[in-house]
Amino acid sequence: MGGKREVLTNRQGHPVYDNQNQRTVGARGPATLENYQFLEKISHFDRERIPERVVHARGVTSHGFFEAYGRLGDEPISRYTRAKIFQEEGKRTDVAVRFSTVIGGRDSAETARDPRGFAIKFYTEDGNWDLVGNNLAVFFIRDAIKFPDVIHALKPDPVTFRQEPARIFDFMSQTPESIHMLVNLFSPRGIPADYRHMQGFGVNTYKWVNQQGETVLVKYHWMPKQGVRSMTEADAAAVQANDLGHATRDLHEAIDRGDYPEWELLVQVMSDDEHPELDFDPLDDTKVWPENEFPARPVGRMVLNRNVDNNFAENEQISFGTGVLIDGLDFSDDKMLVGRTFSYSDTQRYRVGPNYLQLPINQARNSPVRTNQRDGQMTYFVDTAGESPHINYEPSLVDGLREADYPTVDEQGPVISGRLTRKRIPRTNDYVQAGQRYLLMEQWERDDLVDNFITALKQCDPRVQERMVWHFLLVEDDLGLRVGEGLGIRPEDVADLPPLDTQTLTDEERARLSNLG
Ligand code: HEM
Repeated sequence: MGGKREVLTNRQGHPVYDNQNQRTVGARGPATLENYQFLEKISHFDRERIPERVVHARGVTSHGFFEAYGRLGDEPISRYTRAKIFQEEGKRTDVAVRFSTVIGGRDSAETARDPRGFAIKFYTEDGNWDLVGNNLAVFFIRDAIKFPDVIHALKPDPVTFRQEPARIFDFMSQTPESIHMLVNLFSPRGIPADYRHMQGFGVNTYKWVNQQGETVLVKYHWMPKQGVRSMTEADAAAVQANDLGHATRDLHEAIDRGDYPEWELLVQVMSDDEHPELDFDPLDDTKVWPENEFPARPVGRMVLNRNVDNNFAENEQISFGTGVLIDGLDFSDDKMLVGRTFSYSDTQRYRVGPNYLQLPINQARNSPVRTNQRDGQMTYFVDTAGESPHINYEPSLVDGLREADYPTVDEQGPVISGRLTRKRIPRTNDYVQAGQRYLLMEQWERDDLVDNFITALKQCDPRVQERMVWHFLLVEDDLGLRVGEGLGIRPEDVADLPPLDTQTLTDEERARLSNLG
């Protein structure tokens, strides 16, 4: 022993002479309480875990870069946004990307039928930008107030601790805006083959702001150069039999062997108004924007070329949020986005700690950070605030930090007026896009979707089965008839079901219903 290796110490810098035996009275004897080295070692170990994420607990992080094209398709991008990250062709920005599943715990199977998280932290010269999305382009709900309910329905039962289709479809049957997401999730897309062969989407509608303060609505799309691959239930069962973490392993191994995965970032743009001509609301995250009307145009590419050095520091503690935007990017009034923006940093103050932004993985490493924030648990450093260490407030006549000048103008976007209220949006239109998605699928994907719905719904209350068949008949006859057949439910059995209290059907939907009997 000995030789060149460094000596083990405790955290106080004391050398450890014996790491195998506690200090005891005699070789067999009782341990002593002044056994500092042992107590420190064990009590730190006792605190090794932080709470796992309430959603998206299982995930993998890797590092890489984003490279801008300097254009939005054929147009100069500066026409739409002044965000520096996009302006120059070839400009590279460091990124950390975390892929995840949503419902399972930190060590759960990566073969689950579950949306996948696709979160990117861009370390830009203007501070950090987080784009926190998923692989399915839409979401289950359109108002953040429903998030705890949808997640409770999807998470394990509080008594049996099993994920129960009966609970999931009980909630979804009463939540018609979820149908578009369900048609995606129960199709093969609901089990991506791995993280490298999967798309990503910002899902929520954001804004871009140009130098003149003009705004547009935007949606983000990530397209994998590797192509898109999915698994059926049978494929997933075979993979899961050997490996619970196949997607993490696949990504690690690809990066290790220099086969760096790459995605292109494309952006859809819409003028910043309500678009009354559309049959959906551009701020509704249960909808996609038709690409023939709003083309997805490339703005850059992203390459992942480095694995983490430490999973805990870079994957467990990394903290993303939808509020983390840079100059030239902005929020929209999407009611989910606003709720998300509160939730992320709120949970991170609890999960990681109030100073989570002092951790290296979360620091805005490519831009200066100077705040008057002080103290709190686990403060690691004090920002330099001007010359004087005394001035940790603003304004001051003496010293300290000053406010930045506005980059252009302070006011931007359309004028909004309205009464305070609690209302659902008028253009809900919950079935049309789900039906379009169904029709776009290949036959084997439709067959898989129908089988998956039947298997799950067989475990549900008959009232839930009937309501789901009713929804599916509104989505597309073929889907409703086939799922109904699998469950022994005919269209005439559900023809008399009234619409839900929370729903307003369109004339076409009413006409469809009246044909059922
Ligand atoms: C993670 C809340 C909707 C994508 C999380 C976390 C919370 C949360 C609390 C855990 C964050 C952490 O512990 O660091 C919400 C709320 C939502 C919502 C309140 C709706 C109101 C969505 C939607 C998407 C999404 C629509 C997809 C576009 C993600 C992703 C993560 C995440 C990718 C994991 C981030 C990571 O890898 O650390 N969400 N979420 N969430 N959420 Fe959401």
